[in-house]
Amino acid sequence: MNDTSFEKQAPRTRAKVLEAAALVVLMLVAGVAQAARPYRGGAVATAYPPASEAALKMLERGGNAVDAAVAAAFVAAVVGPYHSGVGGGGFALVHDAKTGTTRVLDFREVAPKAATRDMFVRDGKVVPGLSTDGVLSVAVPGAVAGYLELLEKHGTLPRAVVLAPAIEAAKKGLWVTPRYRALAEGRLECLRKDPEARRIFLTKNEQGEAIIPPVGHLVRQPDLARTLTAVSKSGAKGFYAGSVAKDIVDTVKAGGGIVTLEDLSSYKTRERQALEGSYRGHRILTMPPPSAGGVAVLQVLGAMEQLRPQGFTWREPDSVHLYVEALRRAYVDRAKYLGDPDFADVPTQRLISKGHIADLAGSIDPKKATSSLALLPQAAGTQQGSTLTDKPTTLTPEPERKNTTHISIVDKQGNAVALTTTVNYSFGSCVVAKGTGVLLNDEMDDFAAQPGVPNAYGLVTGEPNAVHPGKVPQSSMSPTLVFSKEDPKKVMLAVGSPGGSTIPTTVIQVISNVVDGGMDVVRAVNEGRVHHQYLPDELWVDRWGLEPATLSALEAKGHKVRRVEQWGDAEAVFVDPKTGLRFAASDPRNEGVSLGQD
Ligand code: DON
Repeated sequence: MNDTSFEKQAPRTRAKVLEAAALVVLMLVAGVAQAARPYRGGAVATAYPPASEAALKMLERGGNAVDAAVAAAFVAAVVGPYHSGVGGGGFALVHDAKTGTTRVLDFREVAPKAATRDMFVRDGKVVPGLSTDGVLSVAVPGAVAGYLELLEKHGTLPRAVVLAPAIEAAKKGLWVTPRYRALAEGRLECLRKDPEARRIFLTKNEQGEAIIPPVGHLVRQPDLARTLTAVSKSGAKGFYAGSVAKDIVDTVKAGGGIVTLEDLSSYKTRERQALEGSYRGHRILTMPPPSAGGVAVLQVLGAMEQLRPQGFTWREPDSVHLYVEALRRAYVDRAKYLGDPDFADVPTQRLISKGHIADLAGSIDPKKATSSLALLPQAAGTQQGSTLTDKPTTLTPEPERKNTTHISIVDKQGNAVALTTTVNYSFGSCVVAKGTGVLLNDEMDDFAAQPGVPNAYGLVTGEPNAVHPGKVPQSSMSPTLVFSKEDPKKVMLAVGSPGGSTIPTTVIQVISNVVDGGMDVVRAVNEGRVHHQYLPDELWVDRWGLEPATLSALEAKGHKVRRVEQWGDAEAVFVDPKTGLRFAASDPRNEGVSLGQD
């Protein structure tokens, strides 16, 4: 026996070999072969390498999932200005492993106090662009209040530590990526109109014309670094009061907008009750109204479970047909009933009840597609009568749909965060508050500018989502936690995505891919996608979605198939219930990365 024999190895090396062997055995006994790298500590998935690195840094410093998520969210605000930012808002689910409880924070933007129902309507018609571009589209931002509240209530590290990576990133600058260019392309005219946005996010060509900077160009944001430093020092006051607030209001006012100092100083986040359901024995917690996403997630999963008790397969036209029909109906409910529950009477519990889901599933013809027009909501069930149009939109929704971002984190202790945050459209309203670097959202577009008229995502919403001062616009964002079958208090999957109206379907498909398909989390996230949202009456399939024969079979059932290149950006962390190992996946459709602790 030579010196390299097992017995002769130093005890530390031996321990390491044993540990590695144990890991291999653990992985072999685990039911699902995971393509992703296993982590024994915390794991994170975000849409930007610097945000994932910041999150990992917090975990390495002994911080928990919330410290990591907040650090990542602030970095995302800097390096992904086209997706989210301190001028935006969002939702988070936070699971505390010790108590087994999950809290939900709604820090979405609200309509300014001077907002009116018809503020985007002139001569009886919605003015194109008014709710998406420029100061009138800006709702009162909630991101800073939300991130800080998460940190104060559930985090462990000091504010200065958690904000440091974002401040550093703003000073150092962000490298323009292909994604930056693609999203700026769609917003070029809008960005050119705002002097600060033009100065920060565009560059000049030889003729002095503002153009999109090339890949690799460095976008520095010293003003934003100062704003973040003020937040780091003074907390929410550094944003909602003092000079930053004044600069925001001055910029908005100068352009004819309506956000006031009082709107900012009185902004409050809202704690909500998680929406609870289950799928094939797994407990699911997701986002309640004002998100419409969670309701759709539970309704469609519920219908799939009922219609396909033996399991679901995306390879089979009959299964896909049932899924699409369930979606169609879920989006009808969304159009009819969903809005801010503090302002509208939203029958949430009824919508996710077993009885209602059974009715929804029971109304599906397994052989034939139902025409969306046949499902037009009637006055019953809507408030003040429905004005939903029977004309499908002719609007062509933006194809890529990645302008929002999601962060999924599970730490070593099993605490988990699913946080989705946005400035709505790419680069929000394209308005940067002078001297602050704060890019403001255009979340007002998520209201029904006129009930029945589609918004930027082609979504038609109704009376419960009409504009009202202080009201939260209806959202699709669906941060979701799926729990282990063996222990319904242990998180198995944290997931979410951008994609406007396609967010719930991306979340549903990742969950189904894991639970029904037995896929590892990387594959579950990578798989092709299918979407329907009732109006327009089209079945969308992405590039990797379905085989030609499946599409033909669906067309034969009466579906209008539309091929869309791709959409969404699922960010997910999976915890193997058998081994406790974590696996993370960042959607290859975007530029993110998943990381973890060994
Ligand atoms: O809250 C919502 O539903 C939208 N503001 C989200 C926007 C979005 O996901 C854009 N991504 N394509």
